[in-house]
Amino acid sequence: MANATVIGAQWGDEGKAKVIDYLTERADVVVRFQGGSNAGHTVNANGRKYVFHLVPSGIASPGKVCVVGNGVVFDAEAFLAEVDELIAADVLIEGRLFVSDLAHLVLPYHKALDTAAEFGRGALKIGTTGRGIGPAYTDKVSRSGIHVGDLRDWNVFLKKFIRNNDAAIERLKTPDGEPLADMSNLDEDKVITHYHKIRERLLPFIKDTACYLFNAERDGRRLLFEGAQGTFLDVDHGTYPFVTSSNTTVGGACSGAGVGPKSIGHSVGIVKTYTTRVGNGPFPTELTDDIGFHLRATGNEFGSTTGRPRRCGWFDSVMVRKAAQLNGFTRLALTKLDVLNDLDEIKICVAYEIEGKRTDQYPTNARDFEYAKPIYESMPGWKQDISKCKKLSELPDAATNYIGKIQKLCYDIPILLVSVGPDRSDTIEVAGL
Ligand code: IMP
Repeated sequence: MANATVIGAQWGDEGKAKVIDYLTERADVVVRFQGGSNAGHTVNANGRKYVFHLVPSGIASPGKVCVVGNGVVFDAEAFLAEVDELIAADVLIEGRLFVSDLAHLVLPYHKALDTAAEFGRGALKIGTTGRGIGPAYTDKVSRSGIHVGDLRDWNVFLKKFIRNNDAAIERLKTPDGEPLADMSNLDEDKVITHYHKIRERLLPFIKDTACYLFNAERDGRRLLFEGAQGTFLDVDHGTYPFVTSSNTTVGGACSGAGVGPKSIGHSVGIVKTYTTRVGNGPFPTELTDDIGFHLRATGNEFGSTTGRPRRCGWFDSVMVRKAAQLNGFTRLALTKLDVLNDLDEIKICVAYEIEGKRTDQYPTNARDFEYAKPIYESMPGWKQDISKCKKLSELPDAATNYIGKIQKLCYDIPILLVSVGPDRSDTIEVAGL
C-alpha cells in the first residue's frame, strides 16, 4: 500500500476512525496533523469500543507507531487521560506514541477564552466544542503560543505561561473587572503545580516528529495521515465563520506533519452516505422532520466529544464534489450505508438552486450557500439489513444503485470500501490502494 491521507469530505463525523483503523493494518505509522481534542474518533475493534480525541486511532492496532504532529493543538491533560485509559485497557504505549515538540499547547486559559468568545458572539455562536481550539490556534498565528517542546526547559515554559495566563485573565474581565468566564481553572499556582507533574509524564513522548517521519519513510515504512473534522470545517475552504481553526483539507497534512507532498500518497475522502453537522451554520439538505430524527437515532448521531445531537440530512453531492476538488481525492470510502436500511425512499441532492438559477458547483460565497435550495433526485430504498454483506454483489440492487449514483455524481472516483456497520469486520472492500 502506498501512503494514504484520510480526509472527511463533509462536516466531520463521517466515520473516519473506522476507515483509518481498517487501513492501519496496511500502514506502519499513523499521524494526526491538525485539530486537537475537539475530535472524537470512535473505533470498534476486538470487541472493544475506543474513543480517541488526540491519540491517533492507529493505537488500537498492536505494533503500529502513532504520531501527533506539529499542526495539532495539544491538550496535555486530555492526552494523558487517554494514555491512562489505554494503559488500563492493556494497550502497550511505550515506543509507539510520539508528540511533536513543535505542536502548540492548549492550556486552561484557552478553554476559558473559547467559552467567553462564544458567549460574546451571541446569536452568531459557532457552537465550538469548548476545547480551546480557536484561542490556541490564535496564539500560534499571533506568535505568542507555547510549544510542547518548551516543556523541556521548565523555566522557558514558566515564563511564557505566566505571561499568557496573566494576559488571558485581563482579557477575561469587563472594564469594570467583572469576570467574563469561569476563572477557577486559571489560578497560576495551581496550574503551574499541575503542569510540573504533567511535564514529567510528557517528556518521554516529545520528539522531532517530522525528522522521525522522514526517516521512517526512507526506511520503507508506510505512513497513514489521519485527518480530523471535515473539509467544510476547514478554516480556509469551509463554511466560514462556522468552521474550526485548522486546515482540515489534505494540504494540512504537509504543513501539520512536516512532510513533502509526495508523502501524502492516496487522498482518501470519507463520505457518509447522508450528511450530518454538529454546531451552527447553514446546512442545505438538513432534515428537521421524522426522517432526520430517524437518521440521528439509527446512526447514533451524537457527538463523541460533546455528546451534542448532530443535525442530519440527505446526501449532498454538490458538497462532496467540492471536497473532491479541494482534496484531489483518489479514493472514496462510503460509510454508514446500513443507517439507510429502513427508508422507503432516499433523496440525493444533485445541484442547488440559488436565486432561481441551477448550479452544480458549490458556491464559495457564504450568503449564496446559506440560501442554496437543494435539487433532489429520489431513489428507492432497499428495506433490508445489509450489515452482513461482505461483497458488493451481496448488496440489494437498490443499495448498489445508490452507491453507483454517488460515485457518478462524484467524478467517478474509485470507491475504496463501503462500510455497512460499526465493527471493523462490517466492511465491503471494493478497490485497493
Ligand atoms: P472548535 O473546533 O471546537 O472550535 O469548533 C468549531 C466548529 O467545528 C463547531 O461547529 C464544532 O461543532 C465543529 N467541530 C469541531 N470538531 C469537530 C469534530 O470532530 N466533528 C464534527 N464537528 C466538529
